[in-house]
This record gives sequence, structure tokens and C-alpha cells, in this order.
Amino acid sequence: MKKKQTKNIILLIITIFLIIIGGINFYRYLEYQKTDDYQLKKIGYNKEEVKLIKTLNQKDIETIKTIDYNKNIQSLIKEEEFNKNQFKEYFVYQKSHKTTSEETVFIINNDLDENNEYNEKKIKEYMAFASRSKLDANTSVTLVNANIPYSDIIPLLQKEKYYIEDHLIRYINYYNKTKKDTVDIVREVNANLDYEFYTNIKKTDLEKGNLILVNKYYQLDKDYVPEDLVIIEGNEYAKKEVSDAYQQMKQDAKKEGLLLSITSGYLSYETQNIIYNRYQNEHGLEWADSYSARPGHSEHQTGLALDITSNRSNFDTFEGTSEFTWLINNAYRYGFILRYPKEKEYITGYHYESWHYRYVGKEMAEKIQKENITYEEYYEYYLNKK
Ligand code: DAL
Ligand code: ZN
Repeated sequence: MKKKQTKNIILLIITIFLIIIGGINFYRYLEYQKTDDYQLKKIGYNKEEVKLIKTLNQKDIETIKTIDYNKNIQSLIKEEEFNKNQFKEYFVYQKSHKTTSEETVFIINNDLDENNEYNEKKIKEYMAFASRSKLDANTSVTLVNANIPYSDIIPLLQKEKYYIEDHLIRYINYYNKTKKDTVDIVREVNANLDYEFYTNIKKTDLEKGNLILVNKYYQLDKDYVPEDLVIIEGNEYAKKEVSDAYQQMKQDAKKEGLLLSITSGYLSYETQNIIYNRYQNEHGLEWADSYSARPGHSEHQTGLALDITSNRSNFDTFEGTSEFTWLINNAYRYGFILRYPKEKEYITGYHYESWHYRYVGKEMAEKIQKENITYEEYYEYYLNKK
């Protein structure tokens, strides 16, 4: 009798145990039904697809759960340039244009179909160009639209130290015209030499402060006068910061027995006009243009340029003096660069001027001295590049 009772109790315990296990499993099953995995699998997505879909933002996963099975989703997500935050746009575009996933991602990522008029031939051309040149889509589009075929010169240009992507079309056109080495192509286009001097003139970007560029392509307004002009020496003026740097430099040079003196500092638009016209009347246009800036194009109007010679020399003899040698080696330490160096005439547009110094501040002057490049090249690559 006792034995039977024990047996019943055991059976009861087992039954309760099984009910609990069953209940837990049933509860688990109900919970599982609520998961993304279950719901996506139910629509027909396989394990791999589910895994990919689950990498998307939750709101996109929710949308996918409300629509029929779509095999394109997997191939879209697998695209190299796929961006999950654009999933909806890819999906909608692909659905209405029947584009391949690669095309879809390329078009949406690069905003190539503003008017929603898919041009299969063009898109294929852009993509082929981009993949061959390794250029970004926007540049590829620009080149294809400008009818510039892929050329082996492109990777060579890109390897140049001062290469600027924005100039690529100009580099290629200039190369086709001149067949020069890529190093020269990049240097010359950066200095705007693919345009004739005094053409394609732009306003000087005054936002650049002491680093403004004024040359045959960048112009100051007629009424531009620097704000903080002070007397720097004798009757000459310059910006305060330039004057301070010069006084220090002059003092240090003096300690070595060298006497610096200024022939010209700030020159107004009107004064430059008089000088330029006089040169032109006396020596002709070509001569005037290689020695003097046209009004509005002179660095002297910025208050940042100084013609420095020695007490013992004039312009013609300055190069032979110890003051010249000292300046060449030391001016950068005070923030000055020799602006129109020898053998760079074709870039600066001016005959070598051993005396014309331009203030750019110590940091820039040191970099320019080290890289041994003209201010035209420096400005375009380091200060003007987008
Ligand atoms: N001599 C320099 C180029 C000027 O006229 O500004
Ligand atoms: Zn000068």
C-alpha cells in the first residue's frame, strides 16, 4: 500500500515537471515568433539573408517584414559602397528602375539621378570610368561629361606631390597641349599658367589675411588700403605686423654689421598705376610687365611687401652684397620670403627681384623656404585647395 502511494507521488511530480517544461517551451515558442529571425524566415529569407538584413537599421527591418520576399535585398547589402542609412532610397530606386544593385548604390551614393530619369548608358560609362581610373564618382562623371577619355597620364598626375583633384581636367588639357612632364603640368596649372597672364582674373580672397595672394591672376580693388599701416622706415609704410618683424630683422642684421634699408613698402593703387605707366612708356609693354605689376596686381598694395636693399647698394648691385646673402638665409626666420626668385620667372611672371620680400608670417615662411616653392604654388596647394 505504501509502495503504491510513493509511486503515485513520483508520477505526480514527473507530470508537474513535464507540464512546467512544456509551459516554458511553449512560452519560449511564443516569444520566438515575435523575433526578427522567425518573422523573416517565415517570409522566405534564408539564414544568410536574415543575418544580412539584421545589420540594417531597425526601422528598415520592420519595413522588410511587412513586404514580400525580395531577393535584391541581399545583393544590395553586399555592395562594397552600401550605406545602411540609405537603404530605403536604394530599395525604392531599384524597385522603380530595375537597376542592378551595383548601379543602384552608385547612383544613390553619388546623387546621379536628380531628375529620376535613369540613363543606363551614361551610368555604365561613369561606372566603367570610375572603376578603371580609381577616381571618385564625381570626378569620373565630370570627366566623362567633358568627353575626356581615360588616359594613362591620370595615375601619373595623381602621384605628383602637389596634385589637386579639382584641377584634373585642366591638367589633362594642359598635358594634351604641351606634353610636358607631369611634375611641370601640376606645378604650372596650380600656378594658373594654363591661362595667359592677366586673363581669368579673380578677386584676391581677403579672408586669407596676411596670406593673401596678389599676382597676375588675383587682383585687389582699386580702393583697397590695408587697415593698420604704420611708418616702417623713412617715408615708407607697411602693416604693423610687417613693420615689427622688419625692425627685429634689421636689428639682428645690424649686430652682424649689416645695414638693411627699405626702398618701397606700401604703394597705393594710384602710385602703382603711375609707376607701371611710366615703365610702359619708357620701355614698352613686355618690359613693363616683367618688372612692374599692373595697378591692382601689386603686392605693394597689400602693405605686406618690402623692397629691401642695403645702404650701400641699389637694386642692380644688391645681389652682390652681404646683406643679400644674409637675407636669403635668414629672412624666413622673421616671416619673410623672397617673392620673385631666379629661374621661377615663368611662374611668378616677373623678372628675378633680389630685393622684393613678402611677409607671410614665420610659420609659412619656414615651410615655403623648406619646400623651395613659389608662393603661387604654395598658396594653391596649401591655402586654396578645397
Ligand atoms: N615689382 C613688383 C612685381 C611689383 O610691381 O609689385
Ligand atoms: Zn617690390
